[in-house]
Amino acid sequence: MCGIIGYVGKRQALPILIEGLRRLEYRGYDSAGIALSDEQGVSVTKSAGRLSALEQIVDASQPHTSGIGHTRWATHGAPNDVNAHPHQDGAGRFAVIHNGIIENDRALRVYLQRKGVEFTSETDTEVLAQLIAQLYNGDLEDAVRQALHEVSGTYGMAVVCADEPGVIVAARKGSPLIIGVGQGEHLLASDAAAILAHTTQVVYLGDGEMARITADEVRLTTLDAMPVAKDVEEIEWSLDQIELGWHEHFMLKEIVEQPSSLKNCLRGRINLEEGAVRLGGLVDCTRELTRAKRIIIVGCGTAWHAALVGEYLFEELARIPTETEYASEFRYRNPVLDDGTVVISVSQSGETADTIAALTEAKQRGALTLGVVNVVGSTMARETDAGVYLHVGPEIGVASTKAFTGQVTVLALMACYLGRRKHLSSTAAAQFNAALAAVPDHVEKILTAADECKAVAQKYSDRDNWLYLGRGYNYPVALEGALKLKEISYIHAEGLPAAEMKHGPIALITDGMPVVVIATAGSQYEKIINNIQEVRTRGGSVIAIATEGDREISQLAEHVIYVPDTLEPLQPLLTAIPLQLIAYHAAVIRGCNVDKPRNLAKSVTVE
Ligand code: F6R
Repeated sequence: MCGIIGYVGKRQALPILIEGLRRLEYRGYDSAGIALSDEQGVSVTKSAGRLSALEQIVDASQPHTSGIGHTRWATHGAPNDVNAHPHQDGAGRFAVIHNGIIENDRALRVYLQRKGVEFTSETDTEVLAQLIAQLYNGDLEDAVRQALHEVSGTYGMAVVCADEPGVIVAARKGSPLIIGVGQGEHLLASDAAAILAHTTQVVYLGDGEMARITADEVRLTTLDAMPVAKDVEEIEWSLDQIELGWHEHFMLKEIVEQPSSLKNCLRGRINLEEGAVRLGGLVDCTRELTRAKRIIIVGCGTAWHAALVGEYLFEELARIPTETEYASEFRYRNPVLDDGTVVISVSQSGETADTIAALTEAKQRGALTLGVVNVVGSTMARETDAGVYLHVGPEIGVASTKAFTGQVTVLALMACYLGRRKHLSSTAAAQFNAALAAVPDHVEKILTAADECKAVAQKYSDRDNWLYLGRGYNYPVALEGALKLKEISYIHAEGLPAAEMKHGPIALITDGMPVVVIATAGSQYEKIINNIQEVRTRGGSVIAIATEGDREISQLAEHVIYVPDTLEPLQPLLTAIPLQLIAYHAAVIRGCNVDKPRNLAKSVTVE
């Protein structure tokens, strides 16, 4: 979704802003713009469409050492030149970029119109620009503070003013902003990827905080003008993690990275000799957690699928009643929570609006809240009482892949951690941990046999409808496989618990319809073989994901993709990999833009 970059220092701002915007492209956007500021004033250039369109029209001839840039994913108003950010006041003295939504923009617009202000765009952000201009009395920071007191909604915003060259004022409420600290320069971004090429030293702006940023100084205050002291922190991510390198697409890069991303996720967390799990992020709440009467896991999309695997894991290993909920439903459902309930939010970005809202609801009702989050310093990481980071590195591909396996891994670790404090024997925990530690090597093995996945994609990528079936731990994987296929290849796909097929969806099966069945060894193997028979009888083409050594299944399925044997609760970490690869190859074969699928944004920061 929308992205923010800002620079103030001694270097040319324009190339730094353009490069920053390029690194934000993965988030999804439909227009982009830049404001450069100096003693002569503020010059704004913006354009609908790709960043290359902006580059063609921006005037690079004038040197500027400060400015702000934005990629917009339209919410209020069509994705055109006028609605693109930055937005200005009537006199063009101020330029504002903004992520989030100003909820009272209608009322503020009417108020400003009564004062004679004329608007040029349909956006809520222009309201902010016009309001700041009205309130300006020689101090940009003060005008922004006053304006934000009038505003309800969410924002990560930045503003420059012609009267104060070399100054950027930024503020945050519910939409992330970080300040990069360089040598005689500062950067501002909504996402670390935008500034990583320049610095790994950052200050995370908190909700309700503002920053006045110049080349030499960052002054942090609250919205009520109280000074805020913060340490500079180091971002763990490296530049090569956000660059494509020799890979064709970020999605493929992130799929093949999974052996190492999972090793990073597990590093230092399991002790094979003692059969113990160490999760530093849970130490302070272990007592409360162990006494939990109920766990609710919330998330959206892929994170929700990982959460569903988590539900099975918590119930089996820790024997704690667990439910998984769509964050968007939970937040409006008047859920019954008490102080024996623990709510776990699962999220790659840590910024998904619905999941944050669910978390806030849970906190307000007194539940202990935990985060299973990838992005360090993200809103969810800050707002939860405790949590465990995924440590799988930045995920740039819009389709979530390594975050899914990271989320499942962390939930497995948490289930074992809790299980040991309840009913799980040390022998069973040791066995579980040993199997978990072997997962990265198993994933490596699956990736070396990836040709079969490509062959499946080649054979069936022209089919309009696919079905994915799984049982038990592999039911969420069936949902995830179908989501991966539809979001990047635009093929209609449905994922189901296999037994549900007879209750309706079986009517869809026609001759040659691809049906992916996750039929790995385990407690429900015989049942899933029956489901395969049901599909075959109706002419469906079965693509089976099976356990190595299962020769019989090749008699029943058109294609078999083998994964190594592991414990049943850990199978999702293996069975998800071929499904990611099938979706990737199908999308490439169909000529789809794998890393920038239509209508999708990497992090959904609006409701
Ligand atoms: C699908 C996908 C989305 C996200 C969902 C939640 O590939 O990426 O379904 O999983 O938008 O995002 P996070 O995990 O950032 O909360």
